[in-house]
Amino acid sequence: MAANTYLTGIKPTGDFHLGNYVGAIKPALAAALEYETYYFVADYHALNTVKDAGELRHSIRSGAATWLACGLDPERTIVYQQSKVPETFELTTILGALTPKGLMNRAHAYKAARDRNTEAGITDLDAGINMGLYNYPILMAADILVMEGTHVPVGRDQSQHIEYTADIAGYFNHRFGGSYTFPVPKGVIDQGDGSILPGTDGRKMSKSYDNHIPLFLPEAKLKKAIRRIPTDSTPVEDPKDPDGSVPVQLLGHFADAETVADVRRRLEAGGMGWGELKNELFEAVNAELGPKRERYDHLMANPSEIDEVLEAGSARGRARARPPHHRGGGGGPPPPPPPQ
Ligand code: ADP
Ligand code: TRP
Repeated sequence: MAANTYLTGIKPTGDFHLGNYVGAIKPALAAALEYETYYFVADYHALNTVKDAGELRHSIRSGAATWLACGLDPERTIVYQQSKVPETFELTTILGALTPKGLMNRAHAYKAARDRNTEAGITDLDAGINMGLYNYPILMAADILVMEGTHVPVGRDQSQHIEYTADIAGYFNHRFGGSYTFPVPKGVIDQGDGSILPGTDGRKMSKSYDNHIPLFLPEAKLKKAIRRIPTDSTPVEDPKDPDGSVPVQLLGHFADAETVADVRRRLEAGGMGWGELKNELFEAVNAELGPKRERYDHLMANPSEIDEVLEAGSARGRARARPPHHRGGGGGPPPPPPPQ
């Protein structure tokens, strides 16, 4: 039985924010120290929404640079680009032939797109929906199965996709299990709310709510963004409730426990204003992200360094993606026997 393989995809659609860092990047970096890991930039998934070549190219590099800047070691982890592993698309076709259409009709992302049409009063519920979105779960299953991923760390919104992948692996194994079986993958989904970072308005930080703070904002802009987090007008000297405060919650993810406890005490006692709290928050966020931002800026200014990592990682990924009986042999016929 193969060792556990942790695999996840990063859809390059816009810049990362502090919520992605806390909820996705940090746990994935921790897993990379412990397990065999495959992390890839899901550029063909992004193609469903991003149609501009320059924008997509930028996002692919920016996605990879973010992970590398945050400390992902491309020697230890296979870091690759989805489109550079064409076996994925071969497998997508094979899996499509085994997957009932009804399963795709019930997929959340597709249903949500139809619901949006209903709400907008559009009678053709499929208006504006492309086949890429419709087939998305099959492509995602192929991403996972082609690498024989066993554990898939994803956000909660992706759990249906992992269940579908397990179903699709089952259809394949049932049909062809005599000659080859895919491991049936499990989602690694954080169940607790402890790792959900609030956005500037107190709801979950998300690009779709426009309440996010980008991960690598330049220092002065980061300070401004933190200063702009709404707080009430309680005077400096009055006691304040740290529990309802967004900056305190954010501080909990970036400062050490002692600093957080001290800040909470000072807020409760009175004498600490929201402005001072935000300064503490800025210092903590900047101390953690400053060196990473520098690495990120360096990589984005030297994109060939990113491209090289993706090329090398994709070659390793491709070697893994080849059917097992073709691995290592270059996929061709066996070499002739040595001369006697
Ligand atoms: P967004 O909601 O901004 O579109 P995504 O859905 O692209 O973010 O999230 C990508 C990854 O980041 C997922 O694993 C998700 O769980 C994680 N993530 C996103 N927002 C947060 C947040 N506010 N707190 C913790 N994790 C988050
Ligand atoms: N769909 C995932 C997202 O939107 C990205 C993704 C694509 C992925 N392929 C994957 C995640 C395979 C895990 C495994 O976040």
